[in-house]
Amino acid sequence: MAKEKSNTAKLDFKLEYAAAPESKSSAKINSKYDLFINGKFEKPESKKYFDTINPATEEKIATIAEANQTDVNKAVKAARTAYNNVWSKMPAKERAKYIYRIARMIQERARELAIIETMDGGKPIRESRDIDIPLAANHFFYYAGWADKLQYAFPNKKIAPLGVAGQIIPWNFPLLMAAWKIAPALATGNTVVLKPAETTPLTALKLAEIIQESDLPPGVVNIITGAGATGAAIVNHPDINKIAFTGSTDVGKIIQRAIAGTNKKATLELGGKAANIIFDDAPLDQAVEGVINGIFFNQGHVCCAGSRLFVQESVYNKVLQKLRDRIETLIVGDPLDKNTDIGAINSKQQMDTILKYLKIGEKEGAVMHQSQCSIPKKGYFIRPTLFTNVAQSSRIVQEEIFGPVLTIQTFRTDDEVIEKANNTPYGLSAGVWTDKGSKIFNLTTKMRAGVVWANTFNKFDPTSPFGGYKESGFGREGGLHGLGAYLK
Ligand code: NAI
Ligand code: MG
Repeated sequence: MAKEKSNTAKLDFKLEYAAAPESKSSAKINSKYDLFINGKFEKPESKKYFDTINPATEEKIATIAEANQTDVNKAVKAARTAYNNVWSKMPAKERAKYIYRIARMIQERARELAIIETMDGGKPIRESRDIDIPLAANHFFYYAGWADKLQYAFPNKKIAPLGVAGQIIPWNFPLLMAAWKIAPALATGNTVVLKPAETTPLTALKLAEIIQESDLPPGVVNIITGAGATGAAIVNHPDINKIAFTGSTDVGKIIQRAIAGTNKKATLELGGKAANIIFDDAPLDQAVEGVINGIFFNQGHVCCAGSRLFVQESVYNKVLQKLRDRIETLIVGDPLDKNTDIGAINSKQQMDTILKYLKIGEKEGAVMHQSQCSIPKKGYFIRPTLFTNVAQSSRIVQEEIFGPVLTIQTFRTDDEVIEKANNTPYGLSAGVWTDKGSKIFNLTTKMRAGVVWANTFNKFDPTSPFGGYKESGFGREGGLHGLGAYLK
């Protein structure tokens, strides 16, 4: 790569940190997990089990039941019975008490949940401890508060729950996505059949234990495990009233086709390829931090990751140098280590996908720059990666990579960057870095993205709705909007 001019002082990257691993001792993990149906853990009718592994060590953690059609039928039946006989009849303020209780129990067991989340999925303990688990608890608290105030949330409307919700969640924020899905469903009086992703089922199963201890009436929440076939059986089940899905655009399209012509309601939260835009008047160090967080948070396994960086031409060299310096300081390795910035890629399959895109990028003539850090020999790890010399049409610019890979382009004018930012089949999120409020407003109104962050990135709050345009899906989760998705 051509040597970039820089006025950044030469940084010393030799700083060594002593290992600071979180102890696994406070995490109680069974060797085998069954299906959580009607308030009890039940052996699968399928008699089949699969392994969940730790992607940082490639070691097996536990054996997980694989639900087949019969198991799905049982779970839906339990949810329907609980809906008809108990949950839809219970006064809303009583429902709220259970949701508050679950929130508090998540808080009480936060440390254990964080360790398990990190072991099962590979994300740094710093993130599971400070972001995933507290936010999951917050979602339950927030929606518990709404349960008995729905008539104020939707004034002058006659509202009613939908019935049984089938919820299918991905592996990038396992417990948090379970909370996003379950909390608003319960607050609005629906019952649930939830399926976590096959590589990260453990925190959902721990949540099942919490739900069991909370004395939530049996069948209100059923948590069943399995892969795509189990998910499809939920989607196609005739007695389900609503499908809530977060995952790939491909599966989102399959689901949309499957429910077309049925009475099922759906919210689909799919992929993204967010633009993160730096103007020359932005505080550059802050912007660089935001870009780093935007793409390397959770190994880039984030639907709203800022994976397409646009830098105004006059500050391009400076920003590029700062980014190259900054990625050298990122610590890649043991996710349980409290110093780690970038943990393990979630699965071998996802690692292969990312490596495939690195090859595609180089083939397309892009220039790849990776940090020099060492990475563990075992487990799935990828160094933070920057691509320059990319075109709007490059596949690495157009397609969701879902890994620690940033593409960098330049622009001159506001109109140019708006057009470039919108040149994507997705529309989930975007970021703008500038000192000028007027520029922020101009961009936020013209960018086709569900969430636009200004001078920050990847900020989440239960009160704020989240969702996309175009191939990023439809429906909103979070906030008042998230309640509406579970009501007629
Ligand atoms: P996926 O869409 O296959 O998996 C998400 C969930 O859907 C999992 O629980 C899975 O078991 C379930 N599922 C799979 N096939 C299904 C079907 N036919 N019917 C119902 N449920 C089904 O995603 P995958 O293959 O793990 O990842 C592929 C790509 O998808 C990633 O590289 C990334 O680009 C994108 N992705 C986006 C996510 C987001 O947050 N928007 C989350 C996960 C993946
Ligand atoms: Mg796993």
